Amino acid sequence: MYAKEFQQSLKAVEAARAANIAYEPARMTAKEKDDLLAAYHPDYKKSEFKALSIGPNKGEAVPHELCDMLQAHSRIAAADVDLGDVRYDVDVLIIGGGGAGASAAIEAHEAGADVMVVTKLRMGDANTMMAEGGIQAADKPNDSPAIHFVDAFGGGHYAAKRELLAKLVCDAPEAIRWLDDLGVEFDKAPDGTMITTHGGGTSRKRMHAAKDYSGAEIMRTLRDEVLNRGIPVVDFTSAIELILDENGKAAGAVLMNMETQELMVARAKTVIIATGGAGRMHYQGFPTSNHYGATADGLVLGYRVGAKLLYADTLQYHPTGAAFPQQIFGALVTEKVRSLGAKLVNRDGKVFMHPLETRDVAAASIIRECSDRDAGVDTGSGKAVWLDTPMIEAIGGEGTIEKRIPAMMRMFGNYGIDIRKEPILVYPTLHYQNGGLDIHVNGMSTNVENLFVAGEAVGGIHGRNRLMGNSLLDVIVFGRNAGQNAAAAAEKTTVGKLTLAHIAAFDAERAAAGIETDAVSPLLLPDYRRKK
Ligand code: FUM
Repeated sequence: MYAKEFQQSLKAVEAARAANIAYEPARMTAKEKDDLLAAYHPDYKKSEFKALSIGPNKGEAVPHELCDMLQAHSRIAAADVDLGDVRYDVDVLIIGGGGAGASAAIEAHEAGADVMVVTKLRMGDANTMMAEGGIQAADKPNDSPAIHFVDAFGGGHYAAKRELLAKLVCDAPEAIRWLDDLGVEFDKAPDGTMITTHGGGTSRKRMHAAKDYSGAEIMRTLRDEVLNRGIPVVDFTSAIELILDENGKAAGAVLMNMETQELMVARAKTVIIATGGAGRMHYQGFPTSNHYGATADGLVLGYRVGAKLLYADTLQYHPTGAAFPQQIFGALVTEKVRSLGAKLVNRDGKVFMHPLETRDVAAASIIRECSDRDAGVDTGSGKAVWLDTPMIEAIGGEGTIEKRIPAMMRMFGNYGIDIRKEPILVYPTLHYQNGGLDIHVNGMSTNVENLFVAGEAVGGIHGRNRLMGNSLLDVIVFGRNAGQNAAAAAEKTTVGKLTLAHIAAFDAERAAAGIETDAVSPLLLPDYRRKK
């Protein structure tokens, strides 16, 4: 159902389809990949980055939008809050109601802690809910955590913190069992074994999925478990500042009711930041596949109390964001579409890369095709390439699309595009924050005691690029880990006198560095109002 401007290119794609299905393009060499990334990947565009002038990562470059938020003013002054008026007093305070926060809550509760979740929207309004393609775990006889480690370590440019990545891959099979036991309806063969597929950069089929709404299915199950356990969830309430105690340990947060702006104090023996990603910061003007609340809040909260960041200069641009029609611009087109056999082709129907390159390489290849090579399709609002979805049925047989990726079929079907018969137009979309707060393997910040971090707010698990399916995995593995260890730390903690002195100290540092700004942070929600 494409307009006539697309027809010439569509004909070329259709004409080349049979040959393209049979064609296996060569993998790029390491040198070719490095050169491609340096020339076309947004992470390498130096003009888009700014060095931090204050805080624990002073001197390091991060996206300028993030730099502005990290160095901004607090939303409050210490005098605005009566720290003696404690509204909530718990063992473990979890900030964030996505997959990591929910997993942490379940495990902390299981350990006997008095736990509370605070979330600025609702439980489950999070990137976990938006995840589509699946979750990796090496649980088949031809696979092992060691092979999973090698794939992810290479895919992340050998930059992952080894102990974090080792935990991720070693705990993965148990994470799948845990989810299966909780009731996640994974895709299974008639004999009950899990159906697994490849993702970009995986050498074994280890992607477990619930069709192409794996995250929604996992989040549904986790949310049910949190609610069934009676764990308190304070929704539509954001954490706008962490509270330390007189000994410099994390000891709670200042909360703000999103509707009334009322401020409240939550005191806690330990705090877990599980605030997710940053797609709604729209770095470099990219659209995003992320949830509405993905505004890097946890990084800001942590940074202001002195928590170190790791790799905050590296983002993931998912190669296949929807580029047409406009109504779904930037929405995720799951990598599973490529796993099932669809190849990326340019305006002339030419396959320009191996279909299962890692995401950074795939995104850079598409950007090159649409810029210097001038081989992109004009969508009316930019350039894009085709993802030739009809190949899937040609390879897997009629009905494969409806069975394996029904959400994709529905999303495009809403706009009159039948992906079984017609290819779709895609371009990279801002998808994931590779960097975040630096943690020890027990989930605690490397330099703020009793502050735990889990999920996308963590930096270093994946290095400088993440493989598909390792994010749903990390929210489960490191969410559970943080919940268990925060509960254990809470048992040994006596909270000292509460203080917000770090706000004035950060203000003084900003003034000394000569930074003049009116910006306040955390952002909490993106501002899409038309600028005058
Ligand atoms: O393509 C996808 O389905 C996304 C998966 C992921 O980011 O892990």
